[in-house]
Amino acid sequence: MSTTRDTEQRYAFEVYPKRDITIVRGEGATLWDDTGRAYIDCTAGIGVANVGHCNPAVSAAIAEQANTLITCPGIFYNDVRARAMEKLVSVAPDNLGRAFLCNSGTEAMEAAIKFARLTTGRNGFVSAMRGFHGRSLGALSATFKYREEFEPLIPGHGFVPFNNLDKLSAAIGDDTAAVILEPVQGEGGVRPADPDYLAGARKLCDERGALLILDEIQTGFGRTGRMFASQVYDVAPDIMTLAKGIAGGVPMGATLVSDRIASAAGKHGSTFGGNPLACSAAIACIDEIVSRDLPARAQALGAAFAERFRARQPGVVRELRQLGLMIGIELKAKSRPYLEALMAEGVLALPAGPTVIRLLPPLVIGEEELFTACDTLIDVLERETNT
Ligand SMILES: Cc1ncc(COP(=O)(O)O)c(C=O)c1O
Repeated sequence: MSTTRDTEQRYAFEVYPKRDITIVRGEGATLWDDTGRAYIDCTAGIGVANVGHCNPAVSAAIAEQANTLITCPGIFYNDVRARAMEKLVSVAPDNLGRAFLCNSGTEAMEAAIKFARLTTGRNGFVSAMRGFHGRSLGALSATFKYREEFEPLIPGHGFVPFNNLDKLSAAIGDDTAAVILEPVQGEGGVRPADPDYLAGARKLCDERGALLILDEIQTGFGRTGRMFASQVYDVAPDIMTLAKGIAGGVPMGATLVSDRIASAAGKHGSTFGGNPLACSAAIACIDEIVSRDLPARAQALGAAFAERFRARQPGVVRELRQLGLMIGIELKAKSRPYLEALMAEGVLALPAGPTVIRLLPPLVIGEEELFTACDTLIDVLERETNT
């Protein structure tokens, strides 16, 4: 009988390097493999399962909706979609009053780029080195890596060093439709914006008639200690893109816009966008985040993790960067062998570039589980450096 691994290897047109593990079940911050072994999950499906794997409220909402109505395109009104958009806007920064719903982060970025071009009549975009915004060709045009083999991409996209306002100022011209930034660069190594950087970017955009697009696909939904990282920095974007943690694991994306953004009626769309199944999950997920105050939990647990880690910080660590439960540990060595050793010890974590270990645990993770993950990581960093 062939194993799952053999079957995937046989049939997948693979785009990911795989870890040697078959995940079959999840609950809260625990994942189980096909041998029954449990792991502490500090990946959360790459920042998706903020409310925990198989969150009971999300699962119940999906089950109920699955027996009521699964699909309903945007050409009709739908009760669940209406409530999901109302819910999203209710937790978003005050100036973002409308939502376009789609199915993933890269689609949310595609919409943002098109809406910015429609609104300004300009075609230029400035984004940050090390920034990541997705892999479809529009989003990839604003992404710093993974692009070479796919060029030419969309013309007019330029890059500036992150956290450098002088360079950003020099790059914004008469043709700049928007500046696109992550408040904390995720894939690029867990690098938070400096305290004044986003406010400075906001000011430059206002002075030059450009829009500010904040990509909160990874930072959103409580991850950084507030519902959205733009609230940590007290900066209101014209457009905010969302996905990952929006619907408890069900694929969904959203592009939230302010009144400044021109109507795109008849000019954009998505068959699955705003489908009732995903919307029911999003409503339950956002209710969980709000009613359990998961942003505050992320803030407190993130601080506790940082304190514990710094108390015994191994010599191989160059820097710990952390905002809430978005945690990056930059090493003086490649992260890959440490990630593998960590998995062998029962803790799953992510890379973010070649030398950074990234932890994105579910925000519902227990303090003891998080501390176990922290201590295991410290032990592995010490042991593997000395062998
Ligand atoms: C900041 C950011 N933007 C965009 C994306 C793309 O999202 P998706 O993989 O859902 O297309 C990601 C995914 O990792 C991301 O972290």
